[in-house]
Amino acid sequence: MGKRHSEAKCRKNLGGSQPPAATQVVLRPFRAEDLERLHQIDQHCFPPRIAYSRDELAAFITHPGACTWVAQAGAEIVGFLVADRSPDRAGHVVTIDVVEAWRRRGVGTLLMKVAEQWARKQGLRLMYLETPEDNRPAQAFYRRLGYQYYRTVERYYGNGASAWVMVKWLRPDGRLEMSDG
Ligand SMILES: CC(C)(COP(=O)(O)OP(=O)(O)OC[C@H]1O[C@@H](n2cnc3c(N)ncnc32)[C@H](O)[C@@H]1OP(=O)(O)O)[C@@H](O)C(=O)NCCC(=O)NCCS
Repeated sequence: MGKRHSEAKCRKNLGGSQPPAATQVVLRPFRAEDLERLHQIDQHCFPPRIAYSRDELAAFITHPGACTWVAQAGAEIVGFLVADRSPDRAGHVVTIDVVEAWRRRGVGTLLMKVAEQWARKQGLRLMYLETPEDNRPAQAFYRRLGYQYYRTVERYYGNGASAWVMVKWLRPDGRLEMSDG
């Protein structure tokens, strides 16, 4: 698929129009040719210096132990999630992005559930993530899924914003394994 063509399509789909109600969203693994679109979605989802550069996103996706799921509606990618794991058996949501026109339709929940399933299968004890401390919608989303505020990391982002670390214990004994790293 040509880059120019793909960009034009993405802009159209990142707009505010309502998606067709009957279009089903399916999750599938990341493919190399998705990178351009995922980067474009990330640029729309996050402000400058919180959004990842294309190289950063590629590095997270290809990091050993990482896994990326893509949410697709018909031919269009409408969201994605990148997760990785740390040596202390913690799963980490690197980023979750859903295009604006597809929000509040369960796509984010689907992505989080598949990531938690992946973590559980590997015997990971918890999932954690960082979110800008002023990103109330995301915090509400994570809380709804059982994540709790854990701590604040000052000036975590490139724009100087602080992050909330939020955690969900996947096993009853997970709390014992949470490191401060
Ligand atoms: C956060 C995000 C991933 C949520 O994805 P989504 O597909 O809209 O989420 P869901 O439809 O599965 O929402 C599930 C529930 O979470 C809560 N929720 C989701 N978005 C919310 C919002 N904007 N305000 C308040 N609660 C919200 C609601 O309880 C919602 O259930 P409801 O729609 O029945 O009320 C999406 O808004 C997004 O990509 N935002 C931009 C990028 C971002 O902020 N990523 C996370 C930061 S690290």
